Amino acid sequence: MDAKKYYFDYTANTPLDPQVRQTLAEFYADHYGNSAGIHRFARDMKTHLDEARAYFARFIGAKSSEIVFTASATESNNTVLKGLVRHYPDKKHILISAIEHASVYNTARVLRASEFEVEEIPVNTEGSVRPEEVKNRIRPDTLLVSVMWVNNELGSITPIGEIGKICREQGALFHCDAVQGFAKMPLNVHKMSIDFLTASAHKIYGPIGVGLLFIREGLKLEPLLHGGGHENGLRSSTVNVPGIVGFRKAIEIYERNHQKEWQRVSEFRQQLLSFIQNEIDGSRINSPANGIPHIINCSFDKVNGELLAIALDKQGIAVSTGSACSSGKIIKSRVLGAIDVPMNFQAGTIRISLGRYTTQEETDYLKEQLKQAVNKVRKIS
Ligand SMILES: Cc1ncc(COP(=O)(O)O)c(C=O)c1O
Repeated sequence: MDAKKYYFDYTANTPLDPQVRQTLAEFYADHYGNSAGIHRFARDMKTHLDEARAYFARFIGAKSSEIVFTASATESNNTVLKGLVRHYPDKKHILISAIEHASVYNTARVLRASEFEVEEIPVNTEGSVRPEEVKNRIRPDTLLVSVMWVNNELGSITPIGEIGKICREQGALFHCDAVQGFAKMPLNVHKMSIDFLTASAHKIYGPIGVGLLFIREGLKLEPLLHGGGHENGLRSSTVNVPGIVGFRKAIEIYERNHQKEWQRVSEFRQQLLSFIQNEIDGSRINSPANGIPHIINCSFDKVNGELLAIALDKQGIAVSTGSACSSGKIIKSRVLGAIDVPMNFQAGTIRISLGRYTTQEETDYLKEQLKQAVNKVRKIS
């Protein structure tokens, strides 16, 4: 018999909701036209695509014509940053927060290497961008401000509505990477003065490989992909209608359950926070108290976070490390540095993330194993 598996990595990828799985299976069985064609199979696909587009538009307070489907949030973020500077080459100043996801941060680095001035907006010790910090940095030549809603390492929330308002008043465009807040908290792009917004299906129990991009009416982007002119010329490639239908189903489930789910996850988070703080020596919680309940970022003094994640994995528990590991080298997390986590804690960081299927039994098992693993790894670190 397989050993039991305990999943605490919902922020990286969520399991497919069984109702989404069923929707996908049924849809794939009966629909196979290319939505760009003219025959009835194609028209059938196009109808589902149009309905889904209208559904997403209503969900975020936009118009259908403002919704573009992509293959990932990484693609959506790249499209905004690269597509915008190609269209508006005269404004050279771009502001991004210091804790953006790599798909914004590294894209901005590419722009920096090609004559754009990219400036980082610092965050406070809770991992949020203060609106005044944005206000003080916008200049007449600021093209774009890109600030994420919820940080994927910490769960910290930034008041994006206030930032949107400042950008609108001061004449800068505002992009929000909403991946980790999307279908967790209510959102209205027009009320929040958002010009571009990014989301992804696989963080909300939908399929991998479907991204969303909102582009406010009237704004122009150069496409990343050229070809048959799908998605109003913005994203050529056969449209992944089954994936989009699955994404829509994931939102419908969220709309029915979100309050109960938020509360359940909050209760488990609270239990874990008190356990880590009170029962494990040399621990530190890096996530802010007012962050989303799904993410707990914590560090342990004199512990190697990679070894800790491996020790937990041996016991069937999946968590993420706080520092990304690439080609065997541990790279320090920009985010932990940005919120001033002391050096002795940074290397001993893990991210525990919770979600729809987290149970009391799993939470209890994690507590027990985490304490043992920290003590064991501390001896050898
Ligand atoms: C905040 C944030 N933005 C963007 C992405 C990239 O999403 P995708 O995997 O859909 O490219 C992630 C994925 O972890 C994320 O957490």
